[in-house]
Amino acid sequence: MDIEEEIQSSIRSLELDAAEDDVGIATEDVKEELASFDKEAVKEDVQINSQPAVMEPKGKTKEMKVSEEVVELNETPENRKRHLNVVFIGHVDAGKSTTGGQILFLSGQVDDRTIQKYEKEAKDKSRESWYMAYVMDTNEEERVKGKTVEVGRAHFETENTRFTILDAPGHKSYVPNMISGASQADVGVLVISARKGEFETGYERGGQTREHVLLAKTLGVSKLVVVVNKMDDPTVGWSKERYDEIESKMVPFLKSSGYNVKKDVQFLPMSGLIGTNIKTRVDRSVCPWWDGPCLFEVLDTIEIPLRDPKGPFRMPILDKFKDMGTVVMGKIESGSVREGDSLLVMPNKVQVKVISVHCDENKVRGAGPGENVRIKLSGIEEEDILSGFVLSSVEKPVGVVSEFDAQLQIIELLDNAIFTAGYKAVLHIHSVVEECEIVKLLQQIDPKTKKPMKKKVLFVKNGAIVVCRVQVNNLICIEKFSEFPQLGRFTLRTEGKTVAVGKVAGLLPSGTTGA
Ligand code: GTP
Ligand code: MG
Repeated sequence: MDIEEEIQSSIRSLELDAAEDDVGIATEDVKEELASFDKEAVKEDVQINSQPAVMEPKGKTKEMKVSEEVVELNETPENRKRHLNVVFIGHVDAGKSTTGGQILFLSGQVDDRTIQKYEKEAKDKSRESWYMAYVMDTNEEERVKGKTVEVGRAHFETENTRFTILDAPGHKSYVPNMISGASQADVGVLVISARKGEFETGYERGGQTREHVLLAKTLGVSKLVVVVNKMDDPTVGWSKERYDEIESKMVPFLKSSGYNVKKDVQFLPMSGLIGTNIKTRVDRSVCPWWDGPCLFEVLDTIEIPLRDPKGPFRMPILDKFKDMGTVVMGKIESGSVREGDSLLVMPNKVQVKVISVHCDENKVRGAGPGENVRIKLSGIEEEDILSGFVLSSVEKPVGVVSEFDAQLQIIELLDNAIFTAGYKAVLHIHSVVEECEIVKLLQQIDPKTKKPMKKKVLFVKNGAIVVCRVQVNNLICIEKFSEFPQLGRFTLRTEGKTVAVGKVAGLLPSGTTGA
């Protein structure tokens, strides 16, 4: 078996919602592609905004401007639109922010005057074509450079669904921010530029298209909409040939990344800048060969796996702030929350009471799994909470460990290093970012048979699947992948590169030495 097949089958063996069809192997080697990821140090600080608005302002704004009027959300599910988080991913400059801005414009949340103002500002900064992206890119740095840095958040609705858009940065330096955005989402919109040369840099020469897809899969983004963007560009001119070329190159790669292309992936042509095939289908006079749906239709009808509203409550804390009390924000991964509930802040086991729950800008009495919420708590000070902590049910608290066993898929080690006890990396698991060390290799898994190999394992190389023991310095809240996939899948990164993806196989009681 060559390395490419090996990697494909080993990614499958991780069963990260493994795809069913087993045809199609990436024409290019995942390993090689990942090898070209940038080695420069990255900002490991993950920033998420906390202020609601049409487009939530970026930065750590700690004020909360919210309606005090109570909206019954989860209480009348039949009257209520479902809620989905959609992360926009893809290579730098693919058009993620432009598309996000256009969506807000088309859904009537940004008026012409504001767009004109952005046009002028973009022109003054010699970034004429970035005016739509300015809707999402609200920081001065982002506007000057024309690049998203922090994940932008905004909201829009289609007929049946309320969406939270998470506009991730494409630049390789901000992959940790992208990870944070993707870990909150169920659906990914993978934006690909069809412009001559841009698809190629994004895909073929070590761009972020591939890294983002692999990370999205690992982080639990179960559905992908692959948007072939910039179809209006003069080098493309809505060419069916170009669209087909991109689709035919992407399909095998998506399969090898674990996506079931038939069930979980949909492609469509689009222009984010002009706003074509987003809210309404592209006109035949513009694109005679497309008779499929537009972006809103696809998003509105996308089906995602149901989560159990009655499961034990789990909400990884992404951010916190003071607002006449302590407010924590995050996405509910399991269970439901209501005003008056008693919960635990883990790992420090502080008992708290829920004073109020906000969903987007609305105050609600309760919220269920999949919702992005802000919860005001009593019984704890803001200083005593860190992002990565988990708000958890009292009866069945989340697992707390400093050591765990995991099944790892080694993707690409720096300079072809060997992976052995003593290997150090940065662990990204839900909202936790923590240094870790591999303390012991336990078993190597045969990628073909998926069975443990008999011989003792002391080191492994690229492409290997290995069960090992991982240690962190601080207590972290995680779960077994088999029980809570969202709290049990992770990535290991070193010097800004994804070196491995994995799932938690077992928690070790804290205090165990692991020897
Ligand atoms: P990062 O945030 O840096 O990862 O980039 P991004 O994917 O958000 O791209 P952005 O929206 O900032 O757009 C980058 C450039 O592509 C801008 O000049 C846009 O005008 C241009 N662009 C985006 N979408 C389209 C499109 O549909 N057609 C054309 N012709 N240009 C587009
Ligand atoms: Mg952007």
